[in-house]
Amino acid sequence: MPPPDPAPAPPAEAVAPLIRGVAVLQRLTEANGVLSPSALERATGLARSTVDRIVATLVRMGYVRLDGRDATLTPRVMELGNAYLAALRLPDLLSARADALADALDESVSLAVPDRDGIRFVHQATRRRAMSLSFRMGDLLPAERTAPGPLFATEWTADAWRTWRTRRQQDPHDRRFPAVPPVLRPPAGLTAYEDFERRTKDAAAAHYALDDQLIEPGLVAVSVPVRDPRTARIACVASVVSHTSRHTAAGLRDTLLPRLRTAVATMEEDLRQAPPPAPGAPRSGTALWTGASKQELGREFVESLARGLTVLTAFGEGRAELTLTDVAKATGLARATARRALITYEHLGLLTPADAPTDAAPDAGPAHRAFALTPRVLSLGFPPLSRTSLPRIATPHLRALTDAIQETTALAVLTESGDEIQYTARVPASHVMSVDIRPGTRLPAAATAAGRLLGQGSPTTPTPAAYTVTDEELEQGVRSIAVPIRDRTGRAIAALNVAAHVARRTTAHCVDDILPALRATASHIETDLHTASRFTHVPLT
Ligand code: PHB
Repeated sequence: MPPPDPAPAPPAEAVAPLIRGVAVLQRLTEANGVLSPSALERATGLARSTVDRIVATLVRMGYVRLDGRDATLTPRVMELGNAYLAALRLPDLLSARADALADALDESVSLAVPDRDGIRFVHQATRRRAMSLSFRMGDLLPAERTAPGPLFATEWTADAWRTWRTRRQQDPHDRRFPAVPPVLRPPAGLTAYEDFERRTKDAAAAHYALDDQLIEPGLVAVSVPVRDPRTARIACVASVVSHTSRHTAAGLRDTLLPRLRTAVATMEEDLRQAPPPAPGAPRSGTALWTGASKQELGREFVESLARGLTVLTAFGEGRAELTLTDVAKATGLARATARRALITYEHLGLLTPADAPTDAAPDAGPAHRAFALTPRVLSLGFPPLSRTSLPRIATPHLRALTDAIQETTALAVLTESGDEIQYTARVPASHVMSVDIRPGTRLPAAATAAGRLLGQGSPTTPTPAAYTVTDEELEQGVRSIAVPIRDRTGRAIAALNVAAHVARRTTAHCVDDILPALRATASHIETDLHTASRFTHVPLT
């Protein structure tokens, strides 16, 4: 367990339940998304009754699900990190370039931003290889063990260097960085410090930096800063990551650095040409929603936590810097409530005063100070969910549907040829006689409800029928009904399907009784999919 940040005591106006709720989300994130209640108790140091109420509130918000007794992060929690990434804009503007470079070089490419004395990934274009260690979006690494680190450190103030030295002294094994293997034998004396200072000087002179197996034997990287055209400061760092079985660090510099530099020049041009952000509509009705939940759940619902968390989702594209007034308006919260949430987040390092006041003189009162989300918002659930897949997203929803209708439910996709469907997830009902389709099973598309549904849509005609039913066509006795699962663009990319034995359900039965539940489940899966795929690639199988 990483030692907690030696944070100063919270200000008097900070919201204690919000601090505790954030701690629960962070400990769940460090544990890869799943903890039992007793493990949560140990990890947070909170009383069991407090943990239970926080978890109940997070369940109500859709950020956590209970698998048995275990608290499990859901894709929905990614909306917090999405708010930061949308406000940042860099992934929207640059990730296609990073992906193209990864394809061209056949190596992983990442984009990282500075997070105090660490670096945090805001994009990962990963290659699938036997020998590849790559980090997840949202992972935090100690600056001195990476290639981007010395580049960011060229902009550090004396204060930032002091923070870094203190952290090295307090945490020589890097236990505060659960994403990296711990340092077994920290270098003695000043050597590590001097080495990082020397690497930073070199990076300032050469405008690139190398990581020669600083994190782990075999892992090498070369990095180049992407500068913000308006400020000339480093907006993010682009890295090419490889393995010594393919490139040495020096080899990376000699062969791939020129192409990385060319790609970065294009990225900087893209930033120069970027249109102003399109301000998205803020979500509304928070106050009403949390009030209703309080009525319903009573003591088990920690309203100040729910209200506080919605403050983060007030930020987004075109809403990168918000004042107290903006936040109160976007969330529907009372100004006093919103103000205390802002104070709490600033204390937790999740919000920072924006560079310049947006709508007021520099000496304006606190109501006019603008705030921006920090990369640390990604520590609220993002990394463990950043590599999910559609079957993993769908399975808990299939389970709930199977429980509700007592029929086997499944998810299917069309194979590349278009002639077959392949089942990718399935939750059987506990009937003695049940339709036997396992994940991986392929069936002729034309004979199945799912196949007919998906076969109707082509990339250019994105809207197939709302549902299809097949009757005893594939196999005598099997009646099947399917509805589409659509991606963010509205394209049907999978089918949700119930296959029942004719003896149990008439066709009318299927349509009248099962279809509404099927549609509701499809909509839940789509909500999760759309949240998860806003900034990450979600594989369909
Ligand atoms: C990565 O993208 O995984 C990465 C980048 C730079 C490093 C190490 C890893 O120094």
